[in-house]
Amino acid sequence: MRFMVIGGAGFMGSNLVHRLVREGHRVLVYDKLTYAGRIENIKDLLDRNLIGFVRADLCDEERLREAIKSFSPDVIVNLSGETHVDRSINEPAPFIRTNINCVFHLLEVLRGMEEPPLLIHTSTDEVYGDRWGLPPAGEDECFRPSSPYSASKAAGDLLCQAYWRTYRLPVIIVRPCNNYGPYQHPEKLIPKTIIRALHGKPIPLYGGGWQVRDWVFVDDFAEAVELLAVKGRPGEAYNIPGFNERTNREVVEDILMLMGKPLSLIVEVEDRPGHDRRYAMRGDKIRSLGWKPKTPWLEGLRKTINWYLSNEWWWRPLLTDHYFSVETPWRRERA
Ligand SMILES: NC(=O)c1ccc[n+]([C@@H]2O[C@H](COP(=O)([O-])OP(=O)(O)OC[C@H]3O[C@@H](n4cnc5c(N)ncnc54)[C@H](O)[C@@H]3O)[C@@H](O)[C@H]2O)c1
Repeated sequence: MRFMVIGGAGFMGSNLVHRLVREGHRVLVYDKLTYAGRIENIKDLLDRNLIGFVRADLCDEERLREAIKSFSPDVIVNLSGETHVDRSINEPAPFIRTNINCVFHLLEVLRGMEEPPLLIHTSTDEVYGDRWGLPPAGEDECFRPSSPYSASKAAGDLLCQAYWRTYRLPVIIVRPCNNYGPYQHPEKLIPKTIIRALHGKPIPLYGGGWQVRDWVFVDDFAEAVELLAVKGRPGEAYNIPGFNERTNREVVEDILMLMGKPLSLIVEVEDRPGHDRRYAMRGDKIRSLGWKPKTPWLEGLRKTINWYLSNEWWWRPLLTDHYFSVETPWRRERA
């Protein structure tokens, strides 16, 4: 099949692209290369001419139309986005632009086509809001987003639903839980913990680290997307859980244990404003299509740690001057 992956130079995008190439699909990556997108993530494939690449903004309708026309994909997977919740607290504007306006432009370009390809749009488990004391959310649960990030993702998700309902634009929505694995930006919890532990630096845990998240290995998520491209029903949303709920504290402790580092590296810091206590989703819909996560937690975590330990060239240039500070980012901005 022919896949166009928007945001294919980011964390989940580049892992998906690697999988699609391994499975024999043709791939075009369309990416703006923001601070989170890196050509290094797909360089091995580009060097061997195994994929095409267009550097452009998703909001740029003309470039987008051109890319779709010349590549003629069967499926477009949108994995672009502004994705870091801490950043959305300091500066929500880029989140509104990328996660809402750009999704609107993408939908408009597709609406203008006679036979639009299938769109698989990536939303998130965060749209359901805090599930503390509540059962895991099914796909029909109403949205209660808490952060500017999750509110912008909810808006993008709703636009996709509206374009199916109003125009019958073929779109499938995926709502993954937290992904982990290679090529994730060092600002996120798991890489941050590995890199700090490696340097013997303190590892900050917001609000004691009692928040519960569900984790899926990124290649298992990619497998779900590949499956949905064939078996998914347009107009439907699919949760992609990992069936693997852990507190943030457990996640950090497991990493320290696997790396042979002391738990005394953990320091508790002020909680993130509006921090949801738990995300949790049902997964019967995607399971009924024959998918389940294959990678056990500790195995995936070991793979991830080994990848970061062997690829310092990849993450070292991304460490900022205050990378090892334990000050919370919104405090630093306010100071
Ligand atoms: N990482 C997770 O655990 C997780 C969980 C649930 C949902 N999601 C969603 O999955 C998607 C992928 O997440 P990720 O962690 O891989 O993100 P990421 O931050 O690693 O990568 C985002 C990619 O999008 C590109 N991009 C940003 N703005 C763009 C624009 N205007 N035009 C074109 N490209 C642009 C960036 O250059 C980058 O390559 C996002 O939509 C995110 O909201 C992520």
